[in-house]
Amino acid sequence: MNYAILINKENKLKDNYIKKINLITTKNQYNENILIEEETFKAYQQLKEFLKKQNINIEIDSAYRSIKEQEILYNDYIEKYGVDYTNEMVAKPKTSEHHSGLAIDLSIIVDDKVLEKDDNEKLYNELYSKIHKYLKDYGFILRYPEEKIKITGYKYEPWHIRYVGKFIAKIIAENNYTLEEYLTNFSGILVINKPKNVTSFDVVKEISNFFGIKRIGHTGTLDPLAEGVLLITIGKATKIVELLTAEYKEYYAKVLLGFNTDTLDITGKVLSTNIVPKNLNIKEAINNFPRQYLQEVPIYSAVKVKGKKLYEYARNNETVDLPKKEVTIKEIEIIEENQNSFTFRCIVSKGCYIRSLIRDIATTMNTYATMTDLIRTKQGNFTIEQSTTLENLKKGDYHLYKIEEALNYPIIKLPKELEKKVLTGQKIKNIYNIVDKVIFINEDNQLIGISEVENSSLRTWKNFN
Ligand code: DAL
Ligand code: ZN
Repeated sequence: MNYAILINKENKLKDNYIKKINLITTKNQYNENILIEEETFKAYQQLKEFLKKQNINIEIDSAYRSIKEQEILYNDYIEKYGVDYTNEMVAKPKTSEHHSGLAIDLSIIVDDKVLEKDDNEKLYNELYSKIHKYLKDYGFILRYPEEKIKITGYKYEPWHIRYVGKFIAKIIAENNYTLEEYLTNFSGILVINKPKNVTSFDVVKEISNFFGIKRIGHTGTLDPLAEGVLLITIGKATKIVELLTAEYKEYYAKVLLGFNTDTLDITGKVLSTNIVPKNLNIKEAINNFPRQYLQEVPIYSAVKVKGKKLYEYARNNETVDLPKKEVTIKEIEIIEENQNSFTFRCIVSKGCYIRSLIRDIATTMNTYATMTDLIRTKQGNFTIEQSTTLENLKKGDYHLYKIEEALNYPIIKLPKELEKKVLTGQKIKNIYNIVDKVIFINEDNQLIGISEVENSSLRTWKNFN
């Protein structure tokens, strides 16, 4: 269930969303039946109970409203106050978040009566600002804050709260975002410690659900067998996926000698076995192994040949010429060695398959070998020590890294007159002696773009407007 759904003047409620939500019946302050989304109501009850202990008594004035009900409300307002005022106060039918059941209009009850602003403005403001302080702890946000009218399109509504869940409410409160700002501006890089037995795509999907953000990417697949550092990009940071994917990666791999499999790892079907030669010199084999070579891409991989993924050829028993790619092994060393197994550490370039590397090293020793474990411990600037598990992420225990922190290009503060040029993709002179790429920030330290050298100029490679 996506509780971060955006419903505003530009984004109408989608019909299929309303089919998914579970509405339950409760009472408003006048003891009349009203409808509200189930989780929203649970969170509301907890908020109400907490506020009661602070001597603040809240009730629901309105939660779910049908399109018909909103139409009546909207037309009533037009009649009473005219179009302009109405459009700042009431959403047109189909564009109200009350249709989702996730929005609540609160009432504050004082001396058994609904407190109106005109009754006691000071008390009214005081009580609402107290309520607003605690909203995030119960998964709510103040949807139409006073200083954000330009973004939300509505006047300040101290009574209108919106359920988004605790995880997102916390981020929105900490960053002083509106929901609109959260969904477009929230971005960065997460260092996830991927567990075994899930795909990299599963991790992306789960993180997308946590944040309610669709634009999420990963930067270098880890197979289900593999664990460790998986860099995830959120929002605008997804623009640098290819740069992060191209970074060097460090792995620890465990190898069993004496057999090979179709997938080149322990999850595959055994193809051949051999008696492991005595007195193998694994250390020597590794030391003598070329640091740069053409590596055959494994058949069990998503690399495409003639528009079809290699593993699809394997599944259909079709023959295919496996492509070869140049890979670089920057570092490689033995960590542990036993009769039939060994563990090694390596740092390799983009596109290097460790299971292929293992096969190729074994071939130089005239034996078969199969990868049994793989941990990625580093990618570019990020190490496993900086990573967070999905469980801890869910608890809000994570660090979001900035794009600037993920890359090793020079960072240059641009004067105002050049900022616009970079944002609109116009070339600027390379007066900074940049050799590859450069990160431009503005005078407020906000990221503007990444530019790259083109002859004696710098051309915008990606802008972060
Ligand atoms: N008052 C809010 C904008 C609504 O009508 O949904
Ligand atoms: Zn409302």
